[in-house]
Amino acid sequence: MYVCICKAITDKEIRRAAARGANSLYEVRQALGVASGCGSCADMAEQIISEVNSSKRSGPSLYVPSAA
Ligand code: FES
Repeated sequence: MYVCICKAITDKEIRRAAARGANSLYEVRQALGVASGCGSCADMAEQIISEVNSSKRSGPSLYVPSAA
């Protein structure tokens, strides 16, 4: 889905940049140019970055089989 219409940037591109270490809107803006036009996409972009950062903190889930 397009998040930034001005720069034609999708949520996937934002997620990828955040997963690669761009931890703030400023850093994602530097990497992709998101929110550097009209700025109306800034809130949505920040929300996506926050979701990615939250999933980084929680880490992967570990499956531990129970003894049968
Ligand atoms: S929609 Fe992203 S800068 Fe305008």
